[in-house]
Amino acid sequence: MARKMSSTLQVLVVSCCSLLLLCAPAASAGDYPPTAKGLSYGFYQRSCPKAETIVRSFLKKAIRNDVGLAPGLIRLHFHDCFVQGCDASVLLTRTATEASELDAPPNETIRPSALMAVAQLRALLDDACGGAVVSCADILTLAARDSVRLVGGPEYRVPLGRRDGATIAARERVVAAFPPPSSNVTALLAAVAKIGLDAADLVALSGAHTLGVSRCISFDDRLFPQVDATMDARFAAHLRLSCPAKNTTNTTDIDVRTPNAFDNKYYVDLLSRQGLLTSDQVLFSDGRTRGLVGRFAVDQPEFFRRFAFSMVKMSQIQVMTGVQGEIRTNCSVRNAAGGGT
Ligand code: HEM
Ligand SMILES: *[C@@H]1O[C@H](CO)[C@@H](O)[C@H](O)[C@H]1NC(C)=O
Ligand SMILES: *[C@@H]1O[C@H](CO)[C@@H](O)[C@H](O)[C@H]1NC(C)=O
Ligand SMILES: *[C@@H]1O[C@H](CO)[C@@H](O)[C@H](O)[C@H]1NC(C)=O
Ligand SMILES: *[C@@H]1O[C@H](CO)[C@@H](O)[C@H](O)[C@H]1NC(C)=O
Ligand SMILES: *[C@@H]1O[C@H](CO)[C@@H](O)[C@H](O)[C@H]1NC(C)=O
Repeated sequence: MARKMSSTLQVLVVSCCSLLLLCAPAASAGDYPPTAKGLSYGFYQRSCPKAETIVRSFLKKAIRNDVGLAPGLIRLHFHDCFVQGCDASVLLTRTATEASELDAPPNETIRPSALMAVAQLRALLDDACGGAVVSCADILTLAARDSVRLVGGPEYRVPLGRRDGATIAARERVVAAFPPPSSNVTALLAAVAKIGLDAADLVALSGAHTLGVSRCISFDDRLFPQVDATMDARFAAHLRLSCPAKNTTNTTDIDVRTPNAFDNKYYVDLLSRQGLLTSDQVLFSDGRTRGLVGRFAVDQPEFFRRFAFSMVKMSQIQVMTGVQGEIRTNCSVRNAAGGGT
């Protein structure tokens, strides 16, 4: 009887939690990395107190209509931060004399819908704040944070106050910032070490691959001419339905179990040798990262805490603050010369 009661209670608690945001596994304050100088958690409290609510409620509707917007926005923030810091340079469109970062090969699968959502948020925030108060870099940060939450991931707070940069990174720099999907753990660790991230950050942030899609060409070297020895044979057969030969133009879900939910199933994929990219599966093959993969696969709250920690860390890479840079009035173009805020 007592046993039955307690299991009924458990069911009750679990179902309440899934209804109430309050019960969401949130990182506790102690889990946050140090805050970069010039950023703060209440940055827009006076200048635009509704900023965070506006971003959240816009994305709630937009992601309900298009669940692919969530991975799109998360990847956009990642691509911004990995190249010369989180300065919204990824959003600048080409000019007569320079190519944009969006022209470099790693931009592939940056979704146009994500760029459109940023422009819509820019307009909504400007209406509410009486002008360009919230930077484009902060819009990217908030949009990624809310995307994670809105498809089932952790609730966490992000420090704000980033400023927008004026320089577009050169194509070679963009290419160099992103390790190819064929990378081994040595190459992945070297790439993230350059921007102050470690092995735990790499394993946790790669968990973003619980969402979204990849083109066949990012992994078809694992299928042809023969199946990669670290890939489960049934998974390979499944992938060949989407990618029947080398260099086809199809895409497939990255997380085969729950492609549209932010959860820890990506790590279960890796344990089952059903990771999509080489750069995913090697995290389980390599002794330096395997332990954490195993841990996240069995402990979703632990993954959520570590993911939130590493996202906040990533969101503070080489940020500009204070009077550096500007607040762009159009996220795609620099403010007119001399007209910076
Ligand atoms: C550092 C190692 C990483 C590598 C090698 C990598 C590689 C890739 C590749 C090849 C794709 C598919 C692109 C295509 O269609 O061909 C992809 C998609 C994606 N990546 Fe990563 N990634 C890495 C880290 C990250 C991080 C740190 C995040 C975010 C925190 C992230 C978030 C995403 C998302 C959300 C998608 C799906 C995009 C969409 O569906 O629109 N990735 N990644
Ligand atoms: C990404 O780069 C490709 C190749 O240069 C280009 O065709 C595409 O339009 C770019 N994507 C975005 C979203 O700008
Ligand atoms: C990892 O990849 C790099 C090139 O990206 C290569 O030079 C190195 O030999 C590889 N290491 C191992 C252990 O396979
Ligand atoms: C693309 O993949 C889907 C399954 O994801 C499959 O049904 C379809 O046949 C594939 N298209 C081509 C041209 O291979
Ligand atoms: C696939 O495309 C790559 C790059 O364009 C090329 O080098 C390779 O020969 C192609 N492979 C096949 C089998 O078509
Ligand atoms: C922002 O700039 C882009 C690129 O020049 C332009 O296409 C777009 O219309 C501008 N948006 C607004 C709201 O002016």
